[in-house]
Amino acid sequence: MKGIILAGGSATRLYPLSKAISKQIMPVYDKPMIYYPLSTLMLAGIREVLIISTPRDLPMFKELLGDGSRIGMRLEYKVQLVPNGLAQAFVLGKEFLNGEPGCLILGDNMFYGQHFSRMLKDAVESVKDGGACVFGYEVADPRAYGVVEFEEIEKAAPAGGNGQDVQGQSLKELRVISLEEKPAEPKSNYAVPGLYFYDKTVCDKAAKLEPSARGEYEITDLNKAYLAEGTLKVKLFSRGFAWLDTGNCDSLLDAGNFIATIQNRQGFYVSCIEEIAWRNGWISTEQLSALGKEMKTAYGRYLERLAATKFAR
Ligand code: G1P
Repeated sequence: MKGIILAGGSATRLYPLSKAISKQIMPVYDKPMIYYPLSTLMLAGIREVLIISTPRDLPMFKELLGDGSRIGMRLEYKVQLVPNGLAQAFVLGKEFLNGEPGCLILGDNMFYGQHFSRMLKDAVESVKDGGACVFGYEVADPRAYGVVEFEEIEKAAPAGGNGQDVQGQSLKELRVISLEEKPAEPKSNYAVPGLYFYDKTVCDKAAKLEPSARGEYEITDLNKAYLAEGTLKVKLFSRGFAWLDTGNCDSLLDAGNFIATIQNRQGFYVSCIEEIAWRNGWISTEQLSALGKEMKTAYGRYLERLAATKFAR
């Protein structure tokens, strides 16, 4: 599976911060914001990624991440001339995906929690034979998001299992009933985060969409195409999981503080792309150590420390 990061938009809610630079290049504690969604794709095992951004901002992402070879990846770049909706990622990304399944993550969506890699790999697996997979995350006020309404259907427990999955949730199948984009009266409290897994029909479906009332090609409409086909799956994040917002100055600061708290307490870095590349076996211990030496910061020393550990990977 290939991945797409959509890092466009004008982020007017962060003005004047974002007046001259991309929101997704801004720091979230000690690393640029785009490291977080990139690391999510890497944890899903995705090695080929297309980064889509504005004509103004794309060169900066190229300078930051290059062709990806330093972390054992292949990165490509594409300009989005008009910010006319998230689903456009699959019109712009058609050539890149080249008929393969694709995962889209929004450049400002940050996730952190236990068993995340496993959930991501399950999602990749769940669309292998067709369909799409989105996530549900319970929030107090879902009106600013896509909202998913679903029901539970009992499914047979596996032999020897305790009736629970890795996140301790009971083994119930979820069936999506409805999806709505920013509803005034949400039918559930489950927001749909900006992380979507699609089968190989995604580009054809995206090409057929019509713009919404606000003039955008909505990702929710793309997901509805799968719902209409009966192939849309939803997986839930449990309450201990963090899906962080970076939409305004307060939530951006909160996200930075959250990452600092976890990292400083545990000593492990969150969304350290070099570490993940190394743990995935995409770069060698020597390469990791060399990357660390290039940075005279705590971040660089962390990479060197990892490379020196006896418990490699
Ligand atoms: C977009 C999507 C929305 C989704 C959200 C997640 O909204 O349209 O369905 O829930 O991302 O971050 P936007 O952030 O563009 O308002």
